[in-house]
Amino acid sequence: MFSYRHAFHAGNHADVLKHIVLVQILEHLRQKDKPFWYFDTHAGAGRYDLSGAWARKTLEADTGIARLWQAPKPPAAVARYLDAVRACNPDGQLRSYPGSPWLAWQLLGERDRLRLFEWHATEVHHLHEAMRQQPREVARRTMVYAADGFVGLKALLPPPPRRGVILIDPAYEDKNDYRRVMQTVREGLERFATGCYAVWYPLIQRREAQLLPEKLSRLPGVEWLHASLLVGDPKLSGLGLHGSGMFVINPPYTLRASLQEALPWVAQTLAGANGRYTLQSSDAPRREARRPIAAPSSARPPAKPARPRPPRIRSSEG
Ligand SMILES: C[S@@+](CC[C@H](N)C(=O)[O-])C[C@H]1O[C@@H](n2cnc3c(N)ncnc32)[C@H](O)[C@@H]1O
Repeated sequence: MFSYRHAFHAGNHADVLKHIVLVQILEHLRQKDKPFWYFDTHAGAGRYDLSGAWARKTLEADTGIARLWQAPKPPAAVARYLDAVRACNPDGQLRSYPGSPWLAWQLLGERDRLRLFEWHATEVHHLHEAMRQQPREVARRTMVYAADGFVGLKALLPPPPRRGVILIDPAYEDKNDYRRVMQTVREGLERFATGCYAVWYPLIQRREAQLLPEKLSRLPGVEWLHASLLVGDPKLSGLGLHGSGMFVINPPYTLRASLQEALPWVAQTLAGANGRYTLQSSDAPRREARRPIAAPSSARPPAKPARPRPPRIRSSEG
């Protein structure tokens, strides 16, 4: 059995990127007066106590959500995400961090449905507890499966309303997760070609992680948007998460513009001069996608000498 527990990492820079993107996708889907389904192949515990021993051990939220919490004038996509985090902290103090199911519970309407997979028995228990804190009708729209999300998703696609978003957010503690993500997306697209697939992946010194967005971008005939956020440079030890990416297949047409506005601000607010981002899409010309990574001027003071860049991340922006 795997040992990964998201409570050690909840609210860190990777959650910030993932959840800003997720909130934007859900916001877009609910604009239309048609129901949709939300699938979460790796749902986690649903809600995390930031004052708990695990969160305090790593203090990852201190350099993630805590840096955005009181920051003035966030861009619209960040403001919407912060509203969702505030709804999880009604007294205004940042004590809890909402996981992806919690965000979806807030944003889905009465005709929408949630299908959540979580394989770790303790996390499933916490997820049920988090669900009990929701109004009864929200819980009624939700199914929690204590099962392997890579396997279980297939049987549920396509969703009856033929509209849906699939968050694929493994811990990648098993390197087979990279292969299984590809397989899950391929099989998903065969059954539900118009679904919006959002894949989170870590920026770490591992070949499989570096290849994943490249492989996803080569899937035939799909539109995609790829955002990454870096808060530092890779460590010489090869350990640690210096950034992460969200690869979105069939993105809402509004997503690129909202991330274009949000990411420079997020990079700057989280990491100052070390903050960088990339934003690429399937319709960007190749030439643009090959430019070396560079933060927009607002994200990095010009006087500083350029730092060495990770070799495989390429930017279309900045
Ligand atoms: C990164 S966490 C999920 C965080 C959550 N999506 C969020 O954004 O709040 C990954 C979760 O996947 C669970 N997990 C690992 N392998 C799994 C699998 N094959 N199927 C379902 N869940 C799995 C882990 O127990 C862990 O809780």
